[in-house]
Amino acid sequence: MTSAPSAEPQPVLQAVLAPLTKAAVFLVVTVDPGGEEQVRDLVPDISGLVRSVGFRAPEDGLTCITGIGSDAWDRLFGGPRPAELHPLAERTGAAHRAPSTPGDLLFHIRAQRMDLCFELATHLMARLKGAVTVRDEVHGFKYFDDRDLLGFVDGTENPVGSPAHRAAFTTAQADPDFAGGSYVIVQKYLHDMEAWNALPVEAQERAVGRTKLSDIEMSDEEKPPNSHVALTTVEDADGVQQQIVRLNMPFGTLGRGEFGTYFIGYCATPSVTEEMLDNMFLGSPPGVHDRLLDFSTAVTGSLYFVPSQDFLDDPPGPPGETAAAETAGEAEADGEADDPDSVTDPFDGSLRIGSLKRSNA
Ligand code: HEM
Repeated sequence: MTSAPSAEPQPVLQAVLAPLTKAAVFLVVTVDPGGEEQVRDLVPDISGLVRSVGFRAPEDGLTCITGIGSDAWDRLFGGPRPAELHPLAERTGAAHRAPSTPGDLLFHIRAQRMDLCFELATHLMARLKGAVTVRDEVHGFKYFDDRDLLGFVDGTENPVGSPAHRAAFTTAQADPDFAGGSYVIVQKYLHDMEAWNALPVEAQERAVGRTKLSDIEMSDEEKPPNSHVALTTVEDADGVQQQIVRLNMPFGTLGRGEFGTYFIGYCATPSVTEEMLDNMFLGSPPGVHDRLLDFSTAVTGSLYFVPSQDFLDDPPGPPGETAAAETAGEAEADGEADDPDSVTDPFDGSLRIGSLKRSNA
Protein backbone atom coordinates (compact mmCIF):
# COMPACT_ATOMS: atom_id res chain seq x y z
CA MET A 1 0.00 0.00 0.00
CA THR A 2 1.43 3.41 -0.83
CA SER A 3 0.84 6.47 1.26
CA ALA A 4 -0.42 9.71 -0.19
CA PRO A 5 2.38 12.27 -0.09
CA SER A 6 1.97 14.41 2.99
CA ALA A 7 1.75 18.17 2.60
CA GLU A 8 1.98 18.61 6.37
CA PRO A 9 5.23 19.98 7.77
CA GLN A 10 6.96 17.41 9.94
CA PRO A 11 8.05 18.68 13.34
CA VAL A 12 11.61 18.64 14.63
CA LEU A 13 11.61 16.48 17.75
CA GLN A 14 13.19 16.95 21.15
CA ALA A 15 15.99 14.52 22.01
CA VAL A 16 13.82 11.84 23.64
CA LEU A 17 15.47 9.06 21.62
CA ALA A 18 19.07 10.17 22.13
CA PRO A 19 21.36 7.25 23.10
CA LEU A 20 21.78 6.24 26.74
CA THR A 21 24.27 8.36 28.65
CA LYS A 22 26.45 8.01 31.72
CA ALA A 23 25.05 11.08 33.48
CA ALA A 24 21.79 12.98 33.81
CA VAL A 25 20.29 15.86 35.76
CA PHE A 26 16.55 15.84 36.43
CA LEU A 27 15.39 19.30 37.41
CA VAL A 28 11.78 20.00 38.42
CA VAL A 29 10.80 23.63 39.09
CA THR A 30 7.61 25.56 39.72
CA VAL A 31 7.09 29.01 38.20
CA ASP A 32 6.67 31.69 40.86
CA PRO A 33 3.74 34.10 40.49
CA GLY A 34 4.90 36.78 38.06
CA GLY A 35 7.76 34.63 36.75
CA GLU A 36 5.96 33.65 33.55
CA GLU A 37 7.56 36.34 31.33
CA GLN A 38 11.07 35.27 32.31
CA VAL A 39 10.27 31.63 31.55
CA ARG A 40 8.80 32.56 28.17
CA ASP A 41 11.99 34.53 27.40
CA LEU A 42 14.13 31.49 28.13
CA VAL A 43 12.14 28.89 26.18
CA PRO A 44 13.30 29.82 22.64
CA ASP A 45 16.89 30.16 23.87
CA ILE A 46 17.19 26.67 25.37
CA SER A 47 18.43 25.01 22.18
CA GLY A 48 21.10 27.74 21.79
CA LEU A 49 22.31 27.15 25.34
CA VAL A 50 22.53 23.40 24.67
CA ARG A 51 24.59 24.14 21.54
CA SER A 52 26.89 26.54 23.41
CA VAL A 53 27.69 24.06 26.16
CA GLY A 54 27.53 20.91 24.04
CA PHE A 55 29.72 22.14 21.18
CA ARG A 56 32.68 22.26 23.55
CA ALA A 57 32.51 18.45 23.78
CA PRO A 58 30.39 17.22 20.87
CA GLU A 59 31.38 13.58 21.39
CA ASP A 60 29.74 13.63 24.83
CA GLY A 61 26.24 14.10 23.48
CA LEU A 62 24.69 16.81 25.66
CA THR A 63 20.91 17.02 25.27
CA CYS A 64 18.12 18.71 27.16
CA ILE A 65 14.45 17.80 27.03
CA THR A 66 12.02 20.41 28.31
CA GLY A 67 8.61 19.40 29.63
CA ILE A 68 5.78 21.73 30.64
CA GLY A 69 3.15 20.89 33.27
CA SER A 70 -0.58 21.34 32.87
CA ASP A 71 -1.11 24.44 35.04
CA ALA A 72 2.04 26.10 33.74
CA TRP A 73 0.94 25.58 30.15
CA ASP A 74 -2.09 27.83 30.64
CA ARG A 75 0.00 30.45 32.44
CA LEU A 76 2.71 30.51 29.76
CA PHE A 77 1.06 30.06 26.38
CA GLY A 78 -2.04 31.23 24.56
CA GLY A 79 -3.68 29.17 21.82
CA PRO A 80 -4.49 25.45 21.85
CA ARG A 81 -3.15 23.13 24.54
CA PRO A 82 -1.99 19.52 24.21
CA ALA A 83 -5.06 17.28 24.11
CA GLU A 84 -4.08 14.96 26.95
CA LEU A 85 -2.13 17.29 29.24
CA HIS A 86 -3.34 17.14 32.84
CA PRO A 87 -1.81 16.99 36.31
CA LEU A 88 -0.73 13.51 37.42
CA ALA A 89 -3.33 11.96 39.71
CA GLU A 90 -2.22 10.53 43.02
CA ARG A 91 -2.70 6.77 43.37
CA THR A 92 -3.43 5.21 46.72
CA GLY A 93 -3.41 1.44 46.76
CA ALA A 94 -4.08 -0.86 49.70
CA ALA A 95 -0.35 -0.98 50.51
CA HIS A 96 1.44 1.76 48.58
CA ARG A 97 0.90 5.32 47.43
CA ALA A 98 2.13 7.20 44.37
CA PRO A 99 2.04 10.89 45.27
CA SER A 100 1.44 13.76 42.90
CA THR A 101 3.92 16.53 43.66
CA PRO A 102 4.38 20.09 42.31
CA GLY A 103 6.16 20.65 39.00
CA ASP A 104 5.70 23.25 36.25
CA LEU A 105 8.83 22.62 34.21
CA LEU A 106 10.98 19.53 33.84
CA PHE A 107 14.50 19.71 32.44
CA HIS A 108 15.89 16.27 31.59
CA ILE A 109 19.54 16.92 30.85
CA ARG A 110 21.77 14.10 29.63
CA ALA A 111 25.40 13.67 28.57
CA GLN A 112 28.29 11.27 28.87
CA ARG A 113 29.81 13.66 31.45
CA MET A 114 28.18 15.20 34.51
CA ASP A 115 30.13 18.44 34.07
CA LEU A 116 28.25 19.15 30.83
CA CYS A 117 24.89 18.45 32.47
CA PHE A 118 25.78 20.61 35.44
CA GLU A 119 27.05 23.46 33.28
CA LEU A 120 23.86 23.53 31.22
CA ALA A 121 21.69 23.37 34.34
CA THR A 122 23.66 26.30 35.76
CA HIS A 123 22.93 28.41 32.66
CA LEU A 124 19.24 27.48 32.70
CA MET A 125 18.92 28.37 36.36
CA ALA A 126 20.79 31.65 35.89
CA ARG A 127 18.21 32.64 33.29
CA LEU A 128 15.37 31.57 35.62
CA LYS A 129 16.76 33.23 38.74
CA GLY A 130 13.98 34.89 40.73
CA ALA A 131 11.26 33.37 38.52
CA VAL A 132 11.15 29.75 39.67
CA THR A 133 11.52 27.55 42.74
CA VAL A 134 13.45 24.30 42.43
CA ARG A 135 11.23 21.49 43.73
CA ASP A 136 13.50 18.57 43.01
CA GLU A 137 17.00 18.09 41.64
CA VAL A 138 18.45 14.65 41.04
CA HIS A 139 21.88 13.87 39.61
CA GLY A 140 21.72 10.41 38.08
CA PHE A 141 24.61 8.15 37.13
CA LYS A 142 25.08 5.06 35.04
CA TYR A 143 25.64 2.09 37.35
CA PHE A 144 27.72 -0.73 35.84
CA ASP A 145 25.90 -2.27 32.84
CA ASP A 146 22.81 -0.02 33.04
CA ARG A 147 21.70 -1.60 36.31
CA ASP A 148 19.51 0.06 38.92
CA LEU A 149 20.69 0.09 42.53
CA LEU A 150 18.62 -3.05 43.11
CA GLY A 151 21.21 -4.73 40.87
CA PHE A 152 18.97 -5.43 37.84
CA VAL A 153 19.58 -4.23 34.29
CA ASP A 154 17.00 -1.49 33.68
CA GLY A 155 15.83 -0.57 30.18
CA THR A 156 16.27 -3.86 28.32
CA GLU A 157 12.77 -4.03 26.86
CA ASN A 158 12.72 -0.41 25.70
CA PRO A 159 11.59 -0.10 22.08
CA VAL A 160 14.20 1.13 19.56
CA GLY A 161 14.04 2.65 16.05
CA SER A 162 10.60 3.10 14.50
CA PRO A 163 8.73 1.34 17.34
CA ALA A 164 10.38 3.77 19.78
CA HIS A 165 9.20 6.64 17.59
CA ARG A 166 5.67 5.29 17.56
CA ALA A 167 5.72 4.71 21.32
CA ALA A 168 7.12 8.11 22.25
CA PHE A 169 5.67 10.75 19.93
CA THR A 170 2.21 12.16 19.34
CA THR A 171 0.95 12.11 15.78
CA ALA A 172 -0.87 14.77 13.77
CA GLN A 173 -3.82 12.39 13.64
CA ALA A 174 -4.07 12.23 17.42
CA ASP A 175 -3.42 15.92 18.05
CA PRO A 176 -3.05 18.13 14.96
CA ASP A 177 -1.60 21.08 16.89
CA PHE A 178 0.99 19.06 18.78
CA ALA A 179 2.42 16.37 16.49
CA GLY A 180 5.92 15.29 17.48
CA GLY A 181 5.38 15.92 21.18
CA SER A 182 5.56 13.42 24.01
CA TYR A 183 4.04 13.00 27.45
CA VAL A 184 6.51 12.32 30.21
CA ILE A 185 5.87 11.06 33.74
CA VAL A 186 8.61 11.22 36.37
CA GLN A 187 8.75 9.65 39.83
CA LYS A 188 11.56 9.59 42.33
CA TYR A 189 11.79 6.26 44.17
CA LEU A 190 13.83 5.50 47.29
CA HIS A 191 14.81 1.89 47.92
CA ASP A 192 15.02 0.06 51.22
CA MET A 193 18.34 -1.56 50.40
CA GLU A 194 18.65 -3.43 53.66
CA ALA A 195 15.32 -5.22 53.19
CA TRP A 196 16.04 -5.83 49.48
CA ASN A 197 19.51 -7.23 50.13
CA ALA A 198 18.04 -9.54 52.77
CA LEU A 199 16.04 -11.28 50.02
CA PRO A 200 17.62 -14.29 48.31
CA VAL A 201 18.46 -13.54 44.66
CA GLU A 202 15.70 -15.93 43.51
CA ALA A 203 13.10 -13.87 45.42
CA GLN A 204 14.50 -10.65 43.91
CA GLU A 205 14.22 -12.21 40.46
CA ARG A 206 10.60 -13.14 41.13
CA ALA A 207 9.91 -9.51 42.18
CA VAL A 208 11.29 -8.19 38.90
CA GLY A 209 10.30 -11.03 36.56
CA ARG A 210 13.81 -11.40 35.09
CA THR A 211 17.05 -13.08 36.11
CA LYS A 212 19.52 -10.82 37.89
CA LEU A 213 22.92 -11.62 36.42
CA SER A 214 21.94 -12.58 32.88
CA ASP A 215 18.85 -10.30 32.59
CA ILE A 216 16.65 -12.94 30.92
CA GLU A 217 12.87 -12.58 31.16
CA MET A 218 11.09 -15.41 33.01
CA SER A 219 8.60 -17.48 31.08
CA ASP A 220 4.91 -16.61 31.57
CA GLU A 221 4.55 -19.73 33.71
CA GLU A 222 7.45 -18.80 36.01
CA LYS A 223 6.73 -15.07 36.24
CA PRO A 224 4.62 -14.21 39.30
CA PRO A 225 1.54 -12.03 38.66
CA ASN A 226 2.86 -9.45 41.14
CA SER A 227 6.25 -9.15 39.41
CA HIS A 228 7.19 -5.73 38.04
CA VAL A 229 7.41 -6.98 34.47
CA ALA A 230 4.01 -8.73 34.61
CA LEU A 231 2.29 -5.58 35.90
CA THR A 232 3.96 -3.15 33.50
CA THR A 233 3.16 -5.22 30.41
CA VAL A 234 -0.05 -3.64 29.11
CA GLU A 235 -2.02 -4.26 25.94
CA ASP A 236 -4.64 -2.36 23.99
CA ALA A 237 -8.13 -3.71 23.25
CA ASP A 238 -6.72 -5.69 20.28
CA GLY A 239 -4.06 -7.37 22.41
CA VAL A 240 -1.20 -5.26 21.02
CA GLN A 241 1.45 -4.51 23.64
CA GLN A 242 1.68 -0.79 24.50
CA GLN A 243 5.17 0.56 25.04
CA ILE A 244 6.84 3.54 26.62
CA VAL A 245 10.42 4.80 26.41
CA ARG A 246 12.10 4.65 29.85
CA LEU A 247 15.30 6.50 30.64
CA ASN A 248 15.59 5.72 34.37
CA MET A 249 18.77 6.54 36.26
CA PRO A 250 20.11 5.50 39.67
CA PHE A 251 21.04 8.20 42.17
CA GLY A 252 22.06 8.26 45.81
CA THR A 253 23.22 10.30 48.78
CA LEU A 254 25.15 8.24 51.28
CA GLY A 255 24.93 10.71 54.15
CA ARG A 256 21.15 10.62 54.00
CA GLY A 257 21.02 6.90 53.38
CA GLU A 258 19.23 7.51 50.05
CA PHE A 259 19.46 4.90 47.32
CA GLY A 260 17.11 5.61 44.48
CA THR A 261 15.78 5.14 41.00
CA TYR A 262 14.58 8.17 39.08
CA PHE A 263 11.81 6.81 36.87
CA ILE A 264 11.18 8.73 33.65
CA GLY A 265 8.84 7.38 30.99
CA TYR A 266 7.96 9.04 27.66
CA CYS A 267 4.87 8.08 25.71
CA ALA A 268 2.66 9.32 22.87
CA THR A 269 -0.21 9.27 25.35
CA PRO A 270 0.00 9.53 29.13
CA SER A 271 -2.71 6.89 29.44
CA VAL A 272 -0.28 3.99 28.79
CA THR A 273 2.11 5.00 31.57
CA GLU A 274 -0.86 5.75 33.82
CA GLU A 275 -2.25 2.27 33.24
CA MET A 276 1.13 0.84 34.28
CA LEU A 277 1.01 2.96 37.44
CA ASP A 278 -2.53 1.76 38.17
CA ASN A 279 -1.35 -1.83 37.83
CA MET A 280 1.68 -1.27 40.03
CA PHE A 281 -0.04 0.64 42.84
CA LEU A 282 -3.72 -0.34 42.75
CA GLY A 283 -2.98 -3.82 41.43
CA SER A 284 -4.10 -5.95 38.54
CA PRO A 285 -6.27 -7.72 39.49
CA PRO A 286 -7.00 -5.12 42.20
CA GLY A 287 -4.98 -5.81 45.31
CA VAL A 288 -2.10 -7.58 43.53
CA HIS A 289 0.44 -4.75 43.71
CA ASP A 290 3.96 -4.63 42.28
CA ARG A 291 6.35 -6.52 44.57
CA LEU A 292 9.09 -3.94 43.81
CA LEU A 293 7.01 -1.39 45.72
CA ASP A 294 7.55 -3.31 48.95
CA PHE A 295 11.16 -2.14 48.65
CA SER A 296 10.71 1.14 46.73
CA THR A 297 8.82 4.24 47.90
CA ALA A 298 7.67 6.85 45.40
CA VAL A 299 8.36 10.28 46.91
CA THR A 300 7.57 12.51 43.90
CA GLY A 301 5.38 12.25 40.81
CA SER A 302 4.46 14.65 38.02
CA LEU A 303 3.43 14.75 34.37
CA TYR A 304 4.55 17.08 31.56
CA PHE A 305 4.07 17.63 27.87
CA VAL A 306 7.29 17.71 25.86
CA PRO A 307 6.43 19.78 22.79
CA SER A 308 8.30 19.52 19.50
CA GLN A 309 11.58 21.43 19.22
CA ASP A 310 9.86 23.73 16.70
CA PHE A 311 7.35 24.74 19.34
CA LEU A 312 10.09 25.55 21.86
CA ASP A 313 12.14 27.49 19.34
CA ASP A 314 9.17 29.64 18.36
CA PRO A 315 6.56 29.41 21.12
CA PRO A 316 3.18 31.10 20.93
CA GLY A 317 2.58 34.37 22.74
CA PRO A 318 1.21 34.57 26.25
CA PRO A 319 -2.42 33.83 27.04
CA GLY A 320 -4.58 36.58 25.60
CA GLU A 321 -2.30 37.25 22.64
CA THR A 322 -3.27 34.16 20.71
CA ALA A 323 -5.06 35.16 17.53
CA ALA A 324 -2.23 37.09 15.88
CA ALA A 325 0.39 34.52 16.89
CA GLU A 326 -1.66 31.63 15.52
CA THR A 327 -2.13 33.28 12.13
CA ALA A 328 1.59 34.01 11.88
CA GLY A 329 2.43 30.44 12.92
CA GLU A 330 0.19 28.94 10.26
CA ALA A 331 1.71 31.08 7.53
CA GLU A 332 5.19 30.04 8.57
CA ALA A 333 4.20 26.37 8.70
CA ASP A 334 2.83 26.52 5.15
CA GLY A 335 6.14 27.91 3.95
CA GLU A 336 8.02 24.95 5.46
CA ALA A 337 5.87 22.23 3.97
CA ASP A 338 8.28 21.24 1.22
CA ASP A 339 11.45 21.40 3.26
CA PRO A 340 12.84 17.86 3.59
CA ASP A 341 14.99 18.96 6.52
CA SER A 342 11.87 19.68 8.51
CA VAL A 343 11.73 15.98 9.52
CA THR A 344 14.51 15.90 12.03
CA ASP A 345 15.21 13.52 14.81
CA PRO A 346 18.95 12.94 14.74
CA PHE A 347 18.69 10.73 17.80
CA ASP A 348 16.78 7.58 16.92
CA GLY A 349 19.06 6.09 14.28
CA SER A 350 16.04 5.16 12.14
CA LEU A 351 15.50 5.96 8.48
CA ARG A 352 12.90 8.67 8.96
CA ILE A 353 10.06 6.36 8.06
CA GLY A 354 8.43 6.37 11.46
CA SER A 355 4.95 6.95 12.71
CA LEU A 356 4.72 10.66 12.04
CA LYS A 357 4.82 10.15 8.29
CA ARG A 358 2.50 7.19 8.38
CA SER A 359 0.01 8.94 10.53
CA ASN A 360 -0.44 11.65 7.93
CA ALA A 361 -1.15 9.24 5.11
C1 HEM B 1 10.92 -3.10 33.19
C2 HEM B 1 13.09 -1.44 37.18
C3 HEM B 1 9.50 1.74 37.82
C4 HEM B 1 7.65 0.44 33.54
C5 HEM B 1 11.79 -2.96 34.24
C6 HEM B 1 12.91 -3.81 34.48
C7 HEM B 1 13.52 -3.33 35.60
C8 HEM B 1 12.78 -2.19 36.06
C9 HEM B 1 14.78 -3.88 36.26
C10 HEM B 1 13.31 -5.04 33.64
C11 HEM B 1 14.24 -4.74 32.52
C12 HEM B 1 13.69 -3.81 31.49
O1 HEM B 1 13.03 -4.22 30.53
O2 HEM B 1 13.93 -2.63 31.64
C13 HEM B 1 12.30 -0.45 37.69
C14 HEM B 1 12.54 0.23 38.94
C15 HEM B 1 11.53 1.12 39.12
C16 HEM B 1 10.65 1.01 37.97
C17 HEM B 1 13.73 -0.04 39.85
C18 HEM B 1 11.29 2.04 40.25
C19 HEM B 1 11.43 1.66 41.50
C20 HEM B 1 8.69 1.66 36.73
C21 HEM B 1 7.49 2.44 36.52
C22 HEM B 1 6.99 2.08 35.30
C23 HEM B 1 7.84 1.06 34.75
C24 HEM B 1 6.98 3.50 37.49
C25 HEM B 1 5.77 2.59 34.57
C26 HEM B 1 4.87 3.39 35.08
C27 HEM B 1 8.38 -0.63 33.08
C28 HEM B 1 8.14 -1.30 31.82
C29 HEM B 1 9.05 -2.35 31.73
C30 HEM B 1 9.87 -2.27 32.93
C31 HEM B 1 7.09 -0.94 30.78
C32 HEM B 1 9.21 -3.36 30.59
C33 HEM B 1 8.21 -4.48 30.74
C34 HEM B 1 8.39 -5.49 29.61
O3 HEM B 1 7.89 -5.21 28.52
O4 HEM B 1 9.08 -6.48 29.82
N1 HEM B 1 11.71 -1.98 35.20
N2 HEM B 1 11.16 0.07 37.13
N3 HEM B 1 8.86 0.83 35.64
N4 HEM B 1 9.44 -1.22 33.71
FE1 HEM B 1 10.26 -0.60 35.45
